[in-house]
Amino acid sequence: MNIILLGPPGAGKGTQAKRLIERYGIPQISTGDMLRAAVAEKTPLGLEAKKYMDAGQLVPDSVVIGLVKERIQKDDCKKGYMLDGFPRNVSQAETLDRMLNELGQKIDHVVCIEVPEDELIQRLTGRRTCRQCGAGFHVMFDPPKQEGLCDKCGGELYQRDDDNVQTVTSRLKVYKDQTEPLIAYYEKQGKLRRIDGLGSIDEIFNRIVAVLG
Ligand code: AP5
Repeated sequence: MNIILLGPPGAGKGTQAKRLIERYGIPQISTGDMLRAAVAEKTPLGLEAKKYMDAGQLVPDSVVIGLVKERIQKDDCKKGYMLDGFPRNVSQAETLDRMLNELGQKIDHVVCIEVPEDELIQRLTGRRTCRQCGAGFHVMFDPPKQEGLCDKCGGELYQRDDDNVQTVTSRLKVYKDQTEPLIAYYEKQGKLRRIDGLGSIDEIFNRIVAVLG
């Protein structure tokens, strides 16, 4: 099963993806995580991407598409995969359709998690992530047992560079202008599954599983 997780920054795509991949036994492919890894390693691609990410803008399509094309052809993707944060605009979606057509694959479901903007800002500015294992927390909604430390591995929790109010505002605008049109794009293909993203993490997980089967 090939799935796209769509939704604004902070909707809970990463949080749900981590649970869904366990349930369905398929890998999460997060372009945001791949780009952050390249930034941390200071590769030429990472140094180029950082300028866009810090400004809350999209990294150029050519960079992201190359990463995804290589990743979906790896062995662990044979049974399917969950795309998180890709595609991000209509041009990326059209390229993905062409790419999958050439590979004899298709997208089965597009899960769109819907959350109002004021809640998104609260979720993003309070997010904390483990430096070691990547687990996600929230200072109010999903706090770690010990402040600043990951419950799963004891690693240090950090705040993402793009989770400040100014960059979040710009990311939300980019979502509205460039990513939201994908809702109509996938609705036309009959693949869109809308999910109410308000409620507990478990409730939202159950709603997604109910539509995916
Ligand atoms: P990316 O990493 O993809 O970020 P994003 O789409 O902005 O999404 P987030 O990771 O911020 O949010 P999320 O929906 O995963 O929320 P989460 O589950 O963490 O992209 C970052 C940047 O990389 C982009 O700005 C761009 O520059 C670049 N980029 C990436 N992909 C690209 C592409 N395809 N093309 C071009 N550029 C690209 O949850 C957020 C918080 O809320 C957490 O603290 C969590 O604990 C909490 N939470 C989750 N669910 C709930 C709930 N139900 N109730 C309360 N709190 C909750």
